[in-house]
Amino acid sequence: MPAFCNFFSILPFSSASQNEVVSKRVRAAEQTATAPAAISCWSSNLSKYLVTGAAGFIGRSIAAALLKRGESVRGVDSFITGKRANLAGLEAMDFLEGDLADPAVCARACAGIEVVFHEAALASVPRSVADPVGTNVNCVDATLNVLVAARAAGVRRVLYAGSSSVYGDNPELPKREEMLPLPITPYAVAKLAGEHYLHAFTRVYGLETVTLRYFNVFGPYQDPASHYSGVLAIFCRKLLAGEQPTIYGDGEQSRDFTYIDNVVEANLLAAAAPAEKVAGRYMNLATGAAISLNQAFNILCGLTGYRGKPAYAEPRAGDIRHSLADIHLARELLGYTPKVDFAEGLRHTVAWYRESGAGA
Ligand SMILES: NC(=O)c1ccc[n+]([C@@H]2O[C@H](COP(=O)([O-])OP(=O)(O)OC[C@H]3O[C@@H](n4cnc5c(N)ncnc54)[C@H](O)[C@@H]3O)[C@@H](O)[C@H]2O)c1
Repeated sequence: MPAFCNFFSILPFSSASQNEVVSKRVRAAEQTATAPAAISCWSSNLSKYLVTGAAGFIGRSIAAALLKRGESVRGVDSFITGKRANLAGLEAMDFLEGDLADPAVCARACAGIEVVFHEAALASVPRSVADPVGTNVNCVDATLNVLVAARAAGVRRVLYAGSSSVYGDNPELPKREEMLPLPITPYAVAKLAGEHYLHAFTRVYGLETVTLRYFNVFGPYQDPASHYSGVLAIFCRKLLAGEQPTIYGDGEQSRDFTYIDNVVEANLLAAAAPAEKVAGRYMNLATGAAISLNQAFNILCGLTGYRGKPAYAEPRAGDIRHSLADIHLARELLGYTPKVDFAEGLRHTVAWYRESGAGA
């Protein structure tokens, strides 16, 4: 399949001024790309993989793993929550700054690509409660645009960052894929809509799609600074700074916390798995073990040296009580087994926040 020229090659990110130069180059390339003459411009230097949300926690981790394997990678991000600093170390990646809510950005991002890792989203339950429309635009509209562009560009496979939130507050544990999804927040509704679009694109257009329903991912590069950040990232930042963390509820709520390396590995397995096994399928992606927030807090006290107690506050709207995955399907379809358990993952995570200063 012929492909468009590589409009988005950039210089390494090593300083703010370079970033500005890069952004100008990308904007210039985008303007060129809209001109009809650009359609006849070809290049052999094309990326095989596209990672959306490449400046975010999970996207940058997948991109880094692909680059480490020597793959050619393009990344796209609007920086709505992602950070330019997360692109450090990814200099070999072609990067496009743009909003996937814009179909033209999706078309440019997908040109010449074989496999898409669609990680971009407004990945926060509380933020979706505060801004359901923004969540819909960045999750549902963006996902549909990516699928349309992927199909038009002849992409073979789209992998989707699904979410355990689609199970809602159904008390049955562990969560199994055949359970009826019952989303209770705008975020969960949006993530489920994305899943359904993927499934429909497999059924109707033959695009290979796979949804991995992530359960509470944590690890290096997760943003610890926002009110909307994941709980373990916030705890790491606070405890390393000697500040008291807040637990919403009694702390006995539990999660199937999943270390980032397990998520990256499952994505690489899903990209390579035979289509007859995985196309159109969705599966849980987790560790298969429940940890309460009080337990997590106590382990973190040991790792950080924090000696205080947490503050307890009213539970937050949309928070579910317990979450635990059955991971047999990912094991069967992908050969996935979580290699890094919670305690080891937390050790790596605390060490990273301490060394990088990201928690400060
Ligand atoms: N972190 C978790 O625990 C978790 C759990 C379940 C599912 N997920 C899913 O995994 C994916 C990645 O989550 P994360 O934790 O890395 O979040 P993140 O916020 O760190 O990364 C998301 C990235 O997507 C980008 N983005 C958002 N909307 C965009 C748009 N319209 N156009 C271009 N870029 C856009 C953001 O700028 C950000 O860099 C999301 O789809 C999320 O729903 C995450």
